[in-house]
Amino acid sequence: MIILILVAIVLLFGLVVFRGAPYLPTMPAQVDIALDLLGLEKGQTLLELGSGDGIVLKKAAQRGLNVIGIELNPLLVIITYIRCWKYRKQVTIIWGDYWRKPWPASDGMYVFLLDKYMKKLDKKVIQYRKDVPYPLVSFTFKIPDKHTIRSKNGIHLYLYK
Ligand SMILES: C[S@@+](CC[C@H](N)C(=O)[O-])C[C@H]1O[C@@H](n2cnc3c(N)ncnc32)[C@H](O)[C@@H]1O
Repeated sequence: MIILILVAIVLLFGLVVFRGAPYLPTMPAQVDIALDLLGLEKGQTLLELGSGDGIVLKKAAQRGLNVIGIELNPLLVIITYIRCWKYRKQVTIIWGDYWRKPWPASDGMYVFLLDKYMKKLDKKVIQYRKDVPYPLVSFTFKIPDKHTIRSKNGIHLYLYK
């Protein structure tokens, strides 16, 4: 039984590599930098693709933002749900694949993907964003051929307009 559970956990964390980046959380200090770069105001909505264990969602909610995370790994969805319980009025966590799920309306985005997904992300964001300037912060990985507005400690801010 324990072996079955362990295999299931390994599969949950391992199979995700076929759809995006494997689980690796952004460190708290880096989350602060990312949120500072995004510069969203209280009451605005942040969308996070692949929200992991919810660290970004929680810290953003603590700043008064509304946050939406899309996460494929159900274990991480449960952990996020528990972790963000105190901020449940501001936090929405969607279980699913961010390449397939519709992206809810938002005022900015945080991602920690992989190099090979950045071009695909760029195309989707161009289709998704509305007429107002839309900030996107990416941890480590840059969007090919797109001008970076600002970078700090390997965290990059882009603006779609
Ligand atoms: C590098 S981790 C980043 C976690 C979180 N964003 C953070 O910065 O702490 C990438 C996360 O994306 C999730 N993920 C990967 N591909 C996905 C997909 N196609 N749809 C939803 N989540 C995905 C993984 O399960 C993992 O939790």
